[in-house]
Amino acid sequence: MAARKPLIAGNWKMFGRMSDLGEIAALDAAIGAVASKVDALICPPAAFISAAASLAKGKGVLIGAQDCSAVSADSARTGELSAGMLADAGAAYVIVGHSERRTQHGEGNETVRQKADAGLAAGLTPIVCVGETRAERDGGRVAEVIGAQVRESVPAGAGIVVAYEPVWCIGGDRTPTAAEIGEVHSLIRSVLSERFGAEANGIRVLYGGAVAPKNAAEIFAVEGVDGALVGRASLKAADFSAIILAHPAAS
Ligand code: PGA
Repeated sequence: MAARKPLIAGNWKMFGRMSDLGEIAALDAAIGAVASKVDALICPPAAFISAAASLAKGKGVLIGAQDCSAVSADSARTGELSAGMLADAGAAYVIVGHSERRTQHGEGNETVRQKADAGLAAGLTPIVCVGETRAERDGGRVAEVIGAQVRESVPAGAGIVVAYEPVWCIGGDRTPTAAEIGEVHSLIRSVLSERFGAEANGIRVLYGGAVAPKNAAEIFAVEGVDGALVGRASLKAADFSAIILAHPAAS
C-alpha cells in the first residue's frame, strides 16, 4: 500500500479580512518547496474563497471551505452555500461536522453525513470532524462516541478525510497525550476498515485541537496520524509554515 500523503489543514473560522489573504502568499513562499510531499490547505471564511483560490492558483497551497449546505440542488435557502457553489468558487476541500457546527448549529451525525455526501457529489474532499467532549472522556465513553460518529457521519467512498478533534482541546493550549491520540486514531482506523475494507487504507486521519509549532513534531510522530487540522495557528503563515515543516515528510 502506498503511504498516505500527509494533509495539514488550516481552519480560519470566522477570523480575517481580505487583507489577510497575503498570509496565503507568504505561506506558499515558505512551504512551496515541500508541496509535492505534504498537502497544505487553508479554509478561509467563505466570503474570501474565490479571492483566495485565485491567489493560490498554481501555488503550493490548496483552498477549502469550512462548511456547506446539506442540500445540493439550487433552491430557496437564504444564506446557504451549496458544495457546488464552493467548488465553483475554487474550493477543493470542505470541512464538515466541526464541533463548533455540531454545538452552535445543532448539527448531528445525519446532517454531517449529508453535508459530506454533498461535498463528494460536488467533487470536494470532505474533512469529517469527530471528537469527544471532556465529560464524555471522563465518563469513559470515548470509544462509544467516536465509534458512533465515524459510523454515522462518515460517508462511503474514497477520497474522504477524517479529523479527530477532542472538543476539550480545541481553542485551548493542551492536547491529549501521544498515547491517547494514538488510541483514538487506531480506533477510528479500525472502524473505517470494518466499514470500508481495503478502501479505508486511503483515508487520511488527522489530529486537531491546540496544534502549534511547539507540539507539531510530537503529534506527527504518533502512529496513525496523517496530518493536522489547525485553528488559531493557521492564521499566520509563520506559525502555520512551522507546523507544516515539522512534518517528517517535509524534510
Ligand atoms: P485550535 O482549533 O487549533 O485553535 O485549537 C482547532 C480546530 O478547531 O480545528
